[in-house]
Amino acid sequence: MLPDDLDPAQFSARRVVHRFADPATLTRAAAEEVVGRLMRAVSERGTATMALAGGSTPKSLYRLLAEEPAFRDRVPWAKVHFFFGDERHVSPDHSESNFRMANEAMFDRLAPDLLPPGNVHRIRGELPAPEDAAVEYARELERHFGQGHLPEFDVMLLGMGPDGHTASIFPGTSALRENAITVCAVWVDKHSTNRITMTPPVLRNARTVIFLVAGPDKARVLKSVLEGPRAPDRYPAQGIVSLNGETLWLVDAAAASAVG
Ligand code: 6PG
Repeated sequence: MLPDDLDPAQFSARRVVHRFADPATLTRAAAEEVVGRLMRAVSERGTATMALAGGSTPKSLYRLLAEEPAFRDRVPWAKVHFFFGDERHVSPDHSESNFRMANEAMFDRLAPDLLPPGNVHRIRGELPAPEDAAVEYARELERHFGQGHLPEFDVMLLGMGPDGHTASIFPGTSALRENAITVCAVWVDKHSTNRITMTPPVLRNARTVIFLVAGPDKARVLKSVLEGPRAPDRYPAQGIVSLNGETLWLVDAAAASAVG
């Protein structure tokens, strides 16, 4: 649910939508936004934090950040700590693992001395009980952001599924209402699987939330999220706005084909 103090006018006014002709220009624009914010965070506070999205859309972004000198050589890698917005209940070498995807697309492509291993904080999806992985990750967030402090990520990178889910906050699931903890385990009926996910308060506390959405299969839901009535239970991504910072929707023309 949205916080009560976030009225619809504020809520819709808080998002900026940038449309790009194709996935390649979308990816480059996203890389520019990410690198700029990581650099600014490090110059202002000496460190930066980024929560990574899973799924397939961000793969090309992660690859670009690690491979293209125009981006790779500007990211202050040693001062950036990478976390995961969510993870599947699988081992880190599983084909479904968000960590494996980010590792193959980005971390593994970086020279070993660029990014200290301790800067990558993965969710241990391999634990038999997903609840244990959630509790353990919440403690990891506390260790990094301080006990009793709601984690404030410099960049919260998110995707959106065709059903409007983001991270592993799916419509009709308990994760929608987890407002008292930072990480939860959630059973996702439609996929008959457990997930571990950061909760809405953490996503909303980021300095910058960046939604990266591409492809025609997202067109209908993107229109509902951006132009439809307020229905965050039905479209969880609609309820995720940075409450104190920026919310960017970076979308390609195919995903935005139904948006006015
Ligand atoms: C996950 C992601 C999820 C993803 C959307 C979009 O674990 O799958 O965190 O929220 O961002 O499902 O996925 P695609 O980019 O593959 O469309």
